[in-house]
Amino acid sequence: MPSSSHRARRSKATAPDALMLFGATGDLALRMLYPSLYFLDASDLLPDGMRVIGAARSDLEQDAFRQMVRHALDARADGGVSEAAWARFAARLAYVSFDASQPESFQALARTLEGASRTIFYLSTSPGLFGPICTGIKAAGLAHAGSRMVVEKPIGRDLKSCQAINDVLADAFSEDRIFRVDHYLGKEAVQNLLALRFANTLFEPLWNKSAIDHVQITVAETVGVEGRWDYYDNYGALRDMVQNHLLQLLSLVAMEPPASLEPDSVRNEKIKVLQSLRPIHGRDVERCTVRAQYAAGVADGRAVPSYADEAGGAAGPGTSSQTETFVALMAHVDNWRWAGTPFYLRTGKRLPERSSEIVIQFREVPHSIFSGSDLVANRLTIRLQPEEDIALTLMNKTPSLEHGGMELTPLSLNLSLSHAFKDKRPRRIAYERLLLEVIHDNQTLFVHRDEQETAWRWVDAIRTAWDRQAVKLASYGAGTWGPAGAFALIERHGHSWAD
Ligand code: BG6
Repeated sequence: MPSSSHRARRSKATAPDALMLFGATGDLALRMLYPSLYFLDASDLLPDGMRVIGAARSDLEQDAFRQMVRHALDARADGGVSEAAWARFAARLAYVSFDASQPESFQALARTLEGASRTIFYLSTSPGLFGPICTGIKAAGLAHAGSRMVVEKPIGRDLKSCQAINDVLADAFSEDRIFRVDHYLGKEAVQNLLALRFANTLFEPLWNKSAIDHVQITVAETVGVEGRWDYYDNYGALRDMVQNHLLQLLSLVAMEPPASLEPDSVRNEKIKVLQSLRPIHGRDVERCTVRAQYAAGVADGRAVPSYADEAGGAAGPGTSSQTETFVALMAHVDNWRWAGTPFYLRTGKRLPERSSEIVIQFREVPHSIFSGSDLVANRLTIRLQPEEDIALTLMNKTPSLEHGGMELTPLSLNLSLSHAFKDKRPRRIAYERLLLEVIHDNQTLFVHRDEQETAWRWVDAIRTAWDRQAVKLASYGAGTWGPAGAFALIERHGHSWAD
């Protein structure tokens, strides 16, 4: 990210005059986007005069729209909504009823946006509407040089469909106007990874295959598919989580130091990592990946049905869906820094706890002089969720007067970020950071087209190999850490998951 003075200079010239949100009555808008915009406004971080215009199919009166937004804020703001901040925020709000298939709808948008030349268009709709909306915006003459296009996932279901969407976007907006959201990049702890790696001299000399034995990245959720069955069943964990969030985390861990925090610097380094990922195809998928679906079990202290029995829509309970809700895999980054150091990735729904963490497992000492104790190799654990902690495990002498040897114990140096910064406002929503970066026209925390397409290429190879090799879908009980195969995957190489 640029320095604050740089940012201030840039923001004056580019401050947006409107944010137009497509999908204005949708779940993401209500749960994340309005609350984030409100919190930014309450912290005096929204540009003066920037309107927030909702666009959706429903026929809503202006007052009804404001009421809907207010309810969303009440549901989200633990400490209550400040009436003064609400009055200011409400004055920014407007609603247009909009149907992407109707050219007149775009004329209505143009009238609403009259005089605006730096509009942020935010597509929080189904991807099927990305094309018609972009084309309509362009045809209505609204894609001004100062405007920005923000797009939510899923951007495609594979490389081909991703390219098709990106082509449509590129037809209306140049790449430096397109902000592809991966909300993990807005998480404080994810950004802290950059600080940890590049604001300390301690780690960088050790950050390579010589000192690091392997890396583990786990994103575990306790929730099931929560009413999103129709979407999820068409995607599965590989497309829903690995293609984006887990590969973003992997890139940030594995990338070379960028020359600066400018968007191209950081994103180019991440692209190089993705390009270095060894393709997993053919029979390798059986050795390097595990896919599974949850069966009934106990999660969050209550009995929960199997994925198949949660099925909604046309499928209905008891479906024989083959969609994976869990993936574990072993990846290799084939470059000088990482050759020979495996990266184990794991994500799943209905696991025993909600936790996301990155474990950097250092190598064992080459020779132990402590014959009486087993040495535990150093480990750096970067916990992203639910709490942000960093722990470095080191070997220590156990206090005692024994002679003829020393007894040793592993202990952790712990850094609890929530504790260290307890005076700061409780954790910000990732979207606050992301919206602020769009407002400041800074793409560092957004995904470049090349990054996204390279990630799809890698994921597509796995998907294709799963189909060709007819890789069996394993089963795991809800509330467990996945199928036996996920343990075998890592243990076969002499490692084990750091649970
Ligand atoms: C979304 C996925 O991108 O990320 C969801 O579509 C998943 O399936 C969610 O639950 C997890 O995000 P977070 O911020 O709760 O870890």
